[in-house]
Amino acid sequence: MRLWSLVSKDYVEKGDIRGGRDVTVDDTMNGKIVLEGRMLGVVYGSKYAIRDVNIKIARNTITAIIGPSGCGKSTLLRCFNRMNDLLDARIEGEILFNDHNIYSDGINVAEVRRLIGMVFQKPNPFPTSIYNNVAFGLKINGFRGDIGKQVEYALREAALWDEVKDRLNDNAYSLSGGQQQRLCIARALAVEPEVLLMDEPTASLDPIASAKIEQLITRLKEKITIIIVTHNIQQAARVSDYVNVMMIDENMIGRLIESGPTREVFESPKSKVTEDYISGRFG
Ligand SMILES: Nc1ncnc2c1ncn2[C@@H]1O[C@H](COP(=O)(O)OP(=O)(O)O)[C@@H](O)[C@H]1O
Ligand SMILES: [Mg+2]
Repeated sequence: MRLWSLVSKDYVEKGDIRGGRDVTVDDTMNGKIVLEGRMLGVVYGSKYAIRDVNIKIARNTITAIIGPSGCGKSTLLRCFNRMNDLLDARIEGEILFNDHNIYSDGINVAEVRRLIGMVFQKPNPFPTSIYNNVAFGLKINGFRGDIGKQVEYALREAALWDEVKDRLNDNAYSLSGGQQQRLCIARALAVEPEVLLMDEPTASLDPIASAKIEQLITRLKEKITIIIVTHNIQQAARVSDYVNVMMIDENMIGRLIESGPTREVFESPKSKVTEDYISGRFG
């Protein structure tokens, strides 16, 4: 209940937290949609964590998902590559990935997760060498090319190659936190995903290591699409092209309350609750 009390009841009474069908999406996205969530709901046990979420993600952009803690950002992100399947969750609605519903029967979930990779808040390298960390995904995906070359490619893409090229056999844990996170990004990039989901990827890093990751993802969007969850509003303003704002409604259900090009949302938010949130009045 504490979280809800941070978002004052006034907003609810004024009808500011609605979500659902009335969230509009920018016209400039037309023809570029790689992922689309329609009336998404996630139920843990018997309780909705998020409900009626409609969201579109444009190719080769960075989309930020922001909102106070507990509003369902991670839950929404996990819908995009069926990671909620691994939890005890029921999913409503659909996710179209290049126009195919990834929740329909007969979908190859391993392939979905190859094409839509994920990086978590805390770097989670495997307890093995730097090289093996990056080669891992290639091996389980039956990669047929030159693994060494692909490892180098991924480490270069993740802006880590120059720092590790002479120590590829060292254990990944010998790297700094920021380097470990870039290693996890390299591991995800090695299998050439189309989309990378990042759940607060810099939350455990210092400002310099965070800035490196921000630079890196800004470069990566030329090749892939990035969806980044962050509770750092300044980070969303710096790196994202589009932003989606989530809030908890009066029933403690996460709603997507506003979406649009980042500049528009930050400069002229449609709702008072968004305006107050991005100006730091709560959350
Ligand atoms: N695996 C889970 N099982 C049960 N409830 C969960 C689980 N993951 C998240 N929740 C609940 O769903 C809501 C949204 O959580 P989450 O998506 O983690 O929010 P955020 O990432 O915005 O902090 C919270 O009430 C949380 O307790
Ligand atoms: Mg989260």
